[in-house]
Amino acid sequence: MSDEIFKAPPLDVSSVLHGGYHHPTLRQWQNNGRNLTKSMLIYPIFISDDPDAEQVIETLPGQKRWGVNKLEGFLGPLIKKGLKGVILFGVPMKMEKDARGTAADHPETPVILALSLLSKLYPQLLLAIDVCLCEYTSHGHCGILSPLPNPGHSNMPTLDAEKSAQRIAEVAVAYAKAGAHVVAPSDMMDGRIRAIKMGLMHAGLANRCALMSYSAKFASGLYGPFRDAAGSAPMFGNRKCYQLPPNARGLARRALRRDAAEGADMVMVKPSLPYLDIISDAAQTVPDLPVACYQVSGEYAMIVAGAEKGIYGLKEMAFETTESMIRAGAGIILTYFAPQFLDWLDEEQ
Ligand code: PBG
Ligand code: ZN
Repeated sequence: MSDEIFKAPPLDVSSVLHGGYHHPTLRQWQNNGRNLTKSMLIYPIFISDDPDAEQVIETLPGQKRWGVNKLEGFLGPLIKKGLKGVILFGVPMKMEKDARGTAADHPETPVILALSLLSKLYPQLLLAIDVCLCEYTSHGHCGILSPLPNPGHSNMPTLDAEKSAQRIAEVAVAYAKAGAHVVAPSDMMDGRIRAIKMGLMHAGLANRCALMSYSAKFASGLYGPFRDAAGSAPMFGNRKCYQLPPNARGLARRALRRDAAEGADMVMVKPSLPYLDIISDAAQTVPDLPVACYQVSGEYAMIVAGAEKGIYGLKEMAFETTESMIRAGAGIILTYFAPQFLDWLDEEQ
């Protein structure tokens, strides 16, 4: 009698889901047609101005600052395993820094030397380059400072939007001339996408160089290891008057729409894991542009640290986080895990 009371009625046919994912291949099929593949990966690489550098970065486990002379030995094996794209960041350790970031497009600056070398060595490799001034300016900010004080905070900069956009466009064009297939401005200055696109057009390079905008780049606490790696922390204040406030969903959508209208070929959301809603918004707001996301240095370091603590397996969590980005709408992923994914994607899943 009592057994009868607790016995649930038979399941409705629509309640039975397990049958659809009991086998690894069936689970693969549940991805709505979007799998992580090698061609989605872009590997961020730090290029030092010491040509023989192979320098461990303490805060970014497993990553190094590379000198141009070391690039072939380092990248060759990764390209053999299927690496399709890299994004370069310059790290001027010895070069002089000044207010306008002169070293950014100096003909001997490490990223320009690396672009010329890599385009000769590996013509098939997609060469993207981060365009920003912060690694090269004496003040460590991403644009040209205005003499006006910041009305919101005395220790914060005000940027000269027009001068910044002009200077950044100049640098982007120099990189395109040196062989970059993709220029990716990360500075968040107003008007820089339009300025860069016009610069590329005037230089006759607009059909040979793509423009990937860091459109929805938030003022995040997750850039610490990168700033350490690139030596690009601001000397005073912070970047909150140009990078987006973390609470700003509408502003992110406006920035995405603006950059698409100004001539971006791809847009990026950054960081990734705490901003999956923004990735999803990007896919809907600018549906005709590929959407990239950057699993930034702090996200990477956090995942590695958690795995070292035994909280989860590294591979498992690297896949879970990037799959969430793809599920949200990203088709391109910038990640320091790229070398490991080349191995992992060859293994049985
Ligand atoms: C510089 C730049 C930063 C990153 C990419 N380009 C740091 C910043 O804006 O302070 C972050 C990348 C990372 O954390 O991995 N404009
Ligand atoms: Zn910057």
